[in-house]
Amino acid sequence: MRILILSHHDVRQALPMRDAVEAMKRAFAQLSTGQAEVPLRVPVHVPRHNGLTLFMPAYLAADDQMAVKMVSVFNDNPARGLPLIHALVVVIDAQTGAPVAAMEGASLTALRTGAASGAATDLLARPDAAVAAVFGAGVQGRTQLEAVCAVRPIREAWVYDTDPQRAQAYAGEMEGRLGIPVRVAASPAEAVRRADVVCTATTSSTPVFDDADVRPGTHINAVGAYTPQMREVPTETVLRARVVIDHRTASLAEAGDLLIPIREGRMTEAHIWAELGEIVAGLKPGRMSPEEVTLFKSVGVAVQDVAAAAAVLEAARRQNLGVEVAL
Ligand SMILES: NC(=O)c1ccc[n+]([C@@H]2O[C@H](COP(=O)([O-])OP(=O)(O)OC[C@H]3O[C@@H](n4cnc5c(N)ncnc54)[C@H](O)[C@@H]3O)[C@@H](O)[C@H]2O)c1
Repeated sequence: MRILILSHHDVRQALPMRDAVEAMKRAFAQLSTGQAEVPLRVPVHVPRHNGLTLFMPAYLAADDQMAVKMVSVFNDNPARGLPLIHALVVVIDAQTGAPVAAMEGASLTALRTGAASGAATDLLARPDAAVAAVFGAGVQGRTQLEAVCAVRPIREAWVYDTDPQRAQAYAGEMEGRLGIPVRVAASPAEAVRRADVVCTATTSSTPVFDDADVRPGTHINAVGAYTPQMREVPTETVLRARVVIDHRTASLAEAGDLLIPIREGRMTEAHIWAELGEIVAGLKPGRMSPEEVTLFKSVGVAVQDVAAAAAVLEAARRQNLGVEVAL
């Protein structure tokens, strides 16, 4: 039995963002039409080392793809000079159950999280969207902008981070990578007021911009908050937006951006318009007018890892990337 090992570098090189966006659309469509098996993710707590490891399996029936991601968040790591997050994705042959590939999972996560926002932007943002704003100059913030630029004619981007040095480094790197001006905003308002597409990819627990600064017609991708207590988007923005989510079950368990307004009594679950996959599958329309605000709230679903890993594996095989070992 042979298995292909793909490094961080291989994962990044294998799949263009535009292809990752298409893979996400297929994954979300299967998720929303009963063609995905996604058991609840299994957490293993390691309090002795201030850590948590999650095991996230899924199977996509239409595409016959299966994989499992293990992702560890060990909070003492940064102080020891180690990454906070380690992750590995194992792709399993759905016909035989044999493991066929193992790939570095943090870069795959960033790729698929960006690609999900790319899919949402493609389906929900105004076609003429030209200015992007990113909150959070971190790992996810990078693939968020890459993905938005893959689906819309973005000519200028703004970045805001509470750490100005991180924002500066981001701007320099992303300008080089995308070939458009990327400017550091001095305040959240400076970023949001100009933007047609806003991505929030921060570790914040409180809203990162004011609703008053959001222009009509803006599309927002909110990916940072992933617990019932965390949020990045103000209640008022959620209330006036057409809200699309990645997965109903996961959102109603984890998405503070929606759960906090629900707990405050300001809205009910009925305010959630659709899962992204319902729009991909043509079951519901997306944006209804150029003026409305649209919001894609994602907490992350294992089907994204499966689809991204399968697409990366196929592309890596074509390009002869990675190292094959006998098990
Ligand atoms: N939805 C998903 O599928 C998904 C996937 C992966 C990660 N995430 C989440 O996305 C978030 C970001 O992850 P990352 O890997 O990019 O982290 P990161 O640490 O690399 O970057 C986060 C950045 O946010 C900045 N920040 C914090 N508060 C801010 C604020 N109020 N305004 C502007 N910037 C602020 C930080 O200074 C940092 O630069 C995390 O909460 C992570 O758990 C979600």
